[in-house]
Amino acid sequence: MSVLPASALSLARGAEILRGGGLVAFPTETVYGLGGDATQGQAVARIFEAKGRPSFNPLIVHVAEVSWVAGLAETDARFAKLAEKFWPGPLTCVLKRRADCPASELVSAGLDSIAIRMPDHPVAHELLRASGRPLAAPSANASGTVSPTRAEHVAQSLGDKVDLIIDGGACRVGLESTVIDLTQDQAVILRPGVITAEEIAAVIGPLGSAEANPTTFKSPGQLASHYAPGLPLRLNAAIAKAGEAYLGFGPTADASLNLSAKADLREAAANLFAMMRALDDATRYQGIAVAPIPATGIGTAINDRLERAAAPRS
Ligand code: TXA
Ligand code: MG
Repeated sequence: MSVLPASALSLARGAEILRGGGLVAFPTETVYGLGGDATQGQAVARIFEAKGRPSFNPLIVHVAEVSWVAGLAETDARFAKLAEKFWPGPLTCVLKRRADCPASELVSAGLDSIAIRMPDHPVAHELLRASGRPLAAPSANASGTVSPTRAEHVAQSLGDKVDLIIDGGACRVGLESTVIDLTQDQAVILRPGVITAEEIAAVIGPLGSAEANPTTFKSPGQLASHYAPGLPLRLNAAIAKAGEAYLGFGPTADASLNLSAKADLREAAANLFAMMRALDDATRYQGIAVAPIPATGIGTAINDRLERAAAPRS
């Protein structure tokens, strides 16, 4: 791990690391972000691994320009008005993913939506521009610890788990962005922040309330259970039964799809949602059997997600 002051040189180095699938912590106006290329599943898996998150929560994808959003998500008039008014700035918009969205399904934790924001910080902007990639970036701290507003907080919390920390001084806002869900007719605030519901309503009209929209409003922890495959899932299966698809892990000849033939948990995490989706095909299978996944490191988050997906449907 190295900590470098923000400069043309450190930004060029950071962009190179990101394009190579590595992780770079960088300042935004809210908190420091732990950035990875959102289009590389294994880079996104490394983010979860570095944070030590026991489950996969969907991550915010950061863009350098409003124009980048069109390639990732379906936009509407509400989005255009909010971006015009509040971007760059501490507002994150949850939008429907485009069918051909190049971001890994892991950033959406298997949901059909994607959270996007344009940070208001010259270092974040320049890093995004130089890497040319949308960057997934949760707060750059270990799971369950306070969010970092200075480079030294990142170094203390993540140490060697991040390839480079770009020091841009203290964050101005110090609190994570407001998150608004625009995937439904009624826009709903999912996470409050410095941009308030009143300010947002002044631009797009009345918001839905979380209580009135129990299916829209999900706390981060619940969100991961939003998408469950239509077919029943059977875990810790050594082999498939007749009619089942087999989602393998490690060397096996019989897998319909293999999360990682070389038993690499990071690769498995990157493949998890896309492969569950691909096998969730009632015209071909009656169920999906999943190979045992070691419960170590990022395997804990993979198993957490599999157990939620396999849990009885309510
Ligand atoms: O200020 C911030 O937003 C910071 C800086 C680094 O930009 N980033 C940040 O990211 O806080 P993260 O990934 O820790 O926050 C993600 C939040 C969570 O509350 C998550 O539930 C929500 O956004 N979220 C992400 N994707 C979502 C989705 N597809 N649908 C609903 N909520 C989503
Ligand atoms: Mg956080």
